[in-house]
Parts: sequence; C-alpha cells; structure tokens
Amino acid sequence: MAFLKLIFLIFILHSFMPIPISSTPSLNKEVFAQIRPDFLDFAKKPEIMDWMVGIRRKIHENPELGYEEFETSKLIRAELDLMGIPYKYPVAVTGVVGYIGTGKPPFVALRADMDALAMEELVEWEHKSKVPGKMHACGHDAHVAMLLGAAKMLQEHRNDLQGTIVLIFQPAEEGGGGAKKMLDAGALDNVDAIFALHVSTKFPIGVVASRPGPILAATSFFEAVINGKGGHAALPQHTVDPILAASNVIVSLQHLVSREADPLDSQVVSIGKFQGGGAFNVIPDSVTIGGTFRTFSKESFVQLKQRIEEVITKQASVQRCNAKVIFHENSSYPVCFNNKELHEHFRKVAGEMLGVQNVVEAVANMGGEDFAFFSEVIPGLFFFLGMKNETQGPLQSGHSPYYTVNEDVFPYGAALQASLATTYLSENPPKHTSPPEGSFHDEL
Ligand SMILES: *[C@@H]1O[C@H](CO)[C@@H](O)[C@H](O)[C@H]1NC(C)=O
Ligand SMILES: *[C@@H]1O[C@H](CO)[C@@H](O)[C@H](O)[C@H]1NC(C)=O
Ligand SMILES: [Zn+2]
Ligand SMILES: [Zn+2]
Repeated sequence: MAFLKLIFLIFILHSFMPIPISSTPSLNKEVFAQIRPDFLDFAKKPEIMDWMVGIRRKIHENPELGYEEFETSKLIRAELDLMGIPYKYPVAVTGVVGYIGTGKPPFVALRADMDALAMEELVEWEHKSKVPGKMHACGHDAHVAMLLGAAKMLQEHRNDLQGTIVLIFQPAEEGGGGAKKMLDAGALDNVDAIFALHVSTKFPIGVVASRPGPILAATSFFEAVINGKGGHAALPQHTVDPILAASNVIVSLQHLVSREADPLDSQVVSIGKFQGGGAFNVIPDSVTIGGTFRTFSKESFVQLKQRIEEVITKQASVQRCNAKVIFHENSSYPVCFNNKELHEHFRKVAGEMLGVQNVVEAVANMGGEDFAFFSEVIPGLFFFLGMKNETQGPLQSGHSPYYTVNEDVFPYGAALQASLATTYLSENPPKHTSPPEGSFHDEL
C-alpha cells in the first residue's frame, strides 16, 4: 500500500515538472502552429513597432557606406546586448552574427544588409540623412530594424527552439560584395538554409513575392580606357580619334545581346559612363567608358564577359586605337537563385500568416543582389516585401533621392522572418551528425 502511495506521489510530482520540449517534437510542432500567427500580433504591438521605427530612423539619419557601417553595427550590438543575444563581431569588418536557440544544429540564418548609398537625400522630413552625400535609399535601414524585430520575438521563444537561428548583419551589399566576405569569414559554417527579404515599392503592403529558381541576375561592372592620339579638331588626319572609336565600340557592344545571345536567355549590356575631351576643337588623347552586364546563367556570364573584352579591344584597334579593359571583380555577383523547397516553405508560412492570395509569384529582373553568394553555397530564399499603400500615394523606387520607406511594413517583415526560421527548425531535424556543439559560445 505504502509502495503504491509512493508511486502515486512520484506520478503527481512528475506531472508538475516542466516537460523538456526538445524530447517531444510532436508537441513542439503544435506549439509553433500556435505561436506563428502570434508573431504578427506581437510585432504590431505599439511598443515593438515604435522600437523598430526608432532604430530605423536612427540608422537613416546616420547612413554609412559599405564596410564603414561602424555606428550601425554598434547600434545593432547594443540592441543584441540588451536582449541577451550572443554574437560574433567583427565579421567582415563591420558585420555581426547573432545566435538564438540551442547553439546546436539545425542552423538556419536570416540576413539583413546594413549599408547606405553615396547619394544626397532630397526627402524633407524630420529624420532626413544628416550626412552629406549619403543616404539609405534602398531600405537597408528598414532591413536591420526588421531583423532586430524578429530577433526580439525569437529570443522570447528561445527555449522552444529546436536548433539555432543565426542572425546575419552584413556590410556592403551595394557593390562591395559584403556577403562574400561574410562567407569567407565563416558566417554560414554549418548553416543549412538562409532567408532574406527586400522591401519593395512595387507590391502592396501585406503582399510578399518570390519565385523558385533565378530571381535576380548575375552582374558585373567593366571599365575601358581607349587611347588614340589627340590634336586639333580641324586637322583630324593628324590624330587618332578615340571619341569615334569609343562610339563604335559602344554600338558594337549592343550587338552582343541582339545578335549573339539566345533571345530566350535574358542578358543586358549597358554603358553608363562615357568620359573624354573637354574642348569643342580638340580631339582628346583618350576616352574612358564604363558599364555593366547581366545574365541569368553562369555560362552566359562567362561568354558575355569574354566577348565584351574582345569587342572593346578589337573594335578599338579597327579605329587604330588601343584599349585596356578591366572588370571590377569586387562587385561581380552570381545569379541570385532561390531553392525550390525553401520557396515552398516560404509560400506555406507566408500564406498562413498573410493569406495565400497575398503570396504572389515575383517576376525575375536583371537587378543584382549579393545574397547570391549565400544562396550559391547553401539553399537560400530571397523575397520581396511589399510596402505600397495606395491611400498614402505612390512610393519612389529604390536608389531615388526621393525614396521613402513605409514603416507600417515592419511588423510583417519581422514576423515573417521569425516564422520562416522557427518553422524551418521544427520541420528540419538536424542533418549534421557531428555538431559544432555551441562552439560559438567559446569564441565570444
Ligand atoms: C572595385 O575595384 C575597382 C578596381 O578594380 C575599384 O576602382 C573600385 O573602387 C572597387 N570598388 C569597391 C566597392 O571596392
Ligand atoms: C494604408 O494607409 C491608410 C491611411 O494612412 C491606413 O489607414 C491603413 O491602415 C494603411 N494600410 C496598411 C495595411 O497599413
Ligand atoms: Zn540597392
Ligand atoms: Zn538593397
């Protein structure tokens, strides 16, 4: 009898003990099914919203260019410290990598870029850029605020997580290839998948867009100096005219896409720079041209690059000029490719949160994104977060000096990222059998 009583007592006690969630994966899935919609409600709370808006405005007032995001990075670290989230710093000069969860596999990453553009803000508002010639005109300030918002929600649920969420704050997306440097520094070591969003002025608020496969192009920049022999414009027979040679080069470059590329394989060659001469009656010694080319496959990229060099040097020599071409390898980005399974995951998670009708298929375009470096080495998913609100009037597109961000979008971006990551963890049990057991703790 006494023995039975003891058993009963143990049973009672046990039922009041906290259940270690990690040992009951099926229960955990239910927990996440419940908290997913809560993420959006949580992010819409005025205190969370105001906090995200405050961070974004602070960063907007003090825009920093690629690899110079020292204050931005400092602000991010201060917020992570306040939340008690451990991180690695510096990674790729100013980058920060935060960790939430068990410190064990699976690892899933969320990425935000931190850099601004070298341009003057022309929007007159209270939080206008205070730095002449620099502006957040691509929404990267908003990306940072939303990833910190996601971090706050995830940190509140850190004990429910079945793995680790890696927060990637990277420098230099706008032409500096910060993602590549983060990769080289090991930011994605052991990470199984990565998600990133970009605010979009094209889609309405509450709508998100992506597509499986290539979504943005491989991009590169080139510059060529075409040398001739300057002289009096009235005596062209004594000169070798680089202006005419450069003009022919530019026309010939346009034939690469119109005559050599498969019409069904999208490619672009654009010249955006043409500098030479200064007087009406002087033929200059040299002309500098520069431009960009974009493709949707690695093969086309290699082919086009080779032909651009040939056309410039050979067409210049037809005109008795010499040309030297350089490609800016530091701002060459691969094709930004979305993994099929992650795209399905995105459709499901975003559909549950926003309604399936608000998850639309994006049309690929010839823009570039250095997220491509990440999604080249591990499965990645890049999506657009709509922020257009017709009742508030049209938004200027990215890189415009009149660009504005609709801050109402922050709860959507924060909640979606949090949901994408938590559901990924609960649906993808560890792949790595020899985990780097919380190794980041030691290095902090
Ligand atoms: C990239 O390299 C080119 C020279 O190859 C240089 O002129 C340019 O400033 C570099 N850009 C960046 C963002 O580092
Ligand atoms: C769009 O703007 C109107 C007017 O400011 C506002 O009432 C509405 O809530 C906004 N819609 C969303 C989805 O934020
Ligand atoms: Zn941009
Ligand atoms: Zn951008």
